[in-house]
Parts: sequence; C-alpha cells; structure tokens
Amino acid sequence: MRGKYVLSALAAILVAIPTFLAEADAVADPAKSWDKHYTLWLQVSAVIWVFVTVLLLYIIFKFKRKKPDQVGEYIEGNLLLEIMWTVIPAIIIIMLGAQSWALFNEFRNVPAGAYEVNVEGFQYGYEIKYNEGIKTLNELVVPTGPVKLTMTSRDVVHNFSLPDYRIREDMVPGRTTYLWFNAVKPGEHKVWCAELCGTGHYLMMARVVVKSKEDFAAWIAEHKSGAANASPLEQGKTLVEGSGCAACHSLTGEAGAGPSLKGIFGRAVQFEDGASITSDETYIKQSITDPKVKVVKGFQSMMQPYTMTEAELDSVVEYLKTVK
Ligand code: CUA
Repeated sequence: MRGKYVLSALAAILVAIPTFLAEADAVADPAKSWDKHYTLWLQVSAVIWVFVTVLLLYIIFKFKRKKPDQVGEYIEGNLLLEIMWTVIPAIIIIMLGAQSWALFNEFRNVPAGAYEVNVEGFQYGYEIKYNEGIKTLNELVVPTGPVKLTMTSRDVVHNFSLPDYRIREDMVPGRTTYLWFNAVKPGEHKVWCAELCGTGHYLMMARVVVKSKEDFAAWIAEHKSGAANASPLEQGKTLVEGSGCAACHSLTGEAGAGPSLKGIFGRAVQFEDGASITSDETYIKQSITDPKVKVVKGFQSMMQPYTMTEAELDSVVEYLKTVK
C-alpha cells in the first residue's frame, strides 16, 4: 500500500530532526544556532517540496483521462491518509515552533559576564561609549566572548544591523533596546543602519572590531591615557570626529547636508531670515547646542541639538579655528 511509503519517508524526516539538533554548545552562540535553524527549515521544506512535486507529477500522468467521455472514480475517503496528513504536518510544525522559541530565547537572554557597551545612533553614525570612559565613532571595539549592546538614539529611529552575527534591533529615541552576540574570534564585521532615517541613511555604517582579551585590554589602556593627556585642540578634534559632525559638515569646503566647517571661524554667514554675522565663538557654540535658532541660508534645519560641557564646546571651537 502506498500509504506505507509515505509514512516511512516522513518518519525518516522526523528522526533526522532531533539528530540534527543534538549537538549543543557549551557557550551559547546565537549566530550558529540561527544558521542551524535556517538549514533545518530549508531541509524540511526541500524534502516536502520534492515529495509533493514527485507525487503531483506521478498523479498527473497516471490518472490522465484516457477517453473523452471517461468519468472519474468516486472515492469516499481514506481514513489512514487523512490522519497522516493531519498528524505529521502538526508534529513538524510543533517541532519547528519549539525550536524557534528556543532560538528566540537564546537571542534575548544575555549570558552573565557579557562585556557591556553603550551605542547611540544619530543622523548619521554611531557613538560608542565604553564603561572605561572612552568614546569611539562608528567603530565598536570589543573583546572576544559575549558582548551586550545597550542602545538608544539621539534623534530618529535607526536600526543597528550586524549581519555576520545575525542580529539587528531598532535604536529608538527616548528608549533603550539591547542586543547581544558571541564574538567567537578576533576579526572585523560590518554594521549598517537598516531603518530609513534621512537623506544620509546610506552613509550610516560602522564596523565591529573583535580583539583578543589581551589586545582589547591594551587598546583600552592606550585610549584611556590618550584621552586624559590630550590638549584642548586634540580634544576638540576628537569630539568633532567622534560626534559624527563630518557626516553632514565637510572639513574640506564642499557643502553637504549642512555647511562645510572649513574656515568656519571668522567667516561671514548669511541666515535664512536675511540676517548676517561674522562667525565667532558664541555663534559656533549656539549652532551646536541650539542649531535651530540660526539656520544658514540655502540649508534646511535638520540638525539635532548636541549636549556638550562648556569645556568641550571651548575645545571644539579651538579645533575649528584650525580647520582652514
Ligand atoms: Cu540611521 Cu538609517
């Protein structure tokens, strides 16, 4: 009877699934589990597709009408077949559902002892703040092992997408979201924003640099001392570079989404309302902390206010004086 072959084929699939899932890792690695899960769904789908297609082709040719007036055979039903095509798909779906739930939990439960770092999205970049007191822009440096990202946004909704680790999550203003991944070995990985967030959305990219535990400790030590010993000019340069200003304000003279910073200090500036001034310290500081007040002629008011201390603002002005 044909039902027997169907049953044994499907039994083979069901036996294969637990074998496939058996090898568990000591330390969770959601990216690896994701790939396993994806492969499993692909295999189950492929087997079902082949089964249905072969059966369909067989039936098309086998039961083709032989004479123009031939009438089909009347079949009441087949209890065994009906039970099989209800129970077997139900078992497959429940298994895949249970597996999905386990995978979801792996992605959402951060293991204890993960390295924690804060990421803030803005138009158009990522500011990364380390608990050790360091900031970087568009470069997330982490040690090997589990890493937890605590994320928010300065302006609009962005999305932190890290495909190599099979993760992405929205970065929402006024809210904190999180992600974690297991940085198994040293290397570099691409990050991009996966939420249309403005005209510079396509520019919003970063990279994750995974360093060995020793290299990471050395990197932290180096950057900590670098930040403490820097002159106001150097601090200003780091702030301008680290705040993503250049995404909209070029340092080379070309206009971007905002006016270029080249020669900004002492330059004659015309505003949308017709007024004009010579750019000075007060104007530059106001343009950072309250950019909506004076909008330069020919540009749209797109910039969000930045929070900086008076000392930080002074150092930014010191640096901008040198950008000529
Ligand atoms: Cu940020 Cu797209």
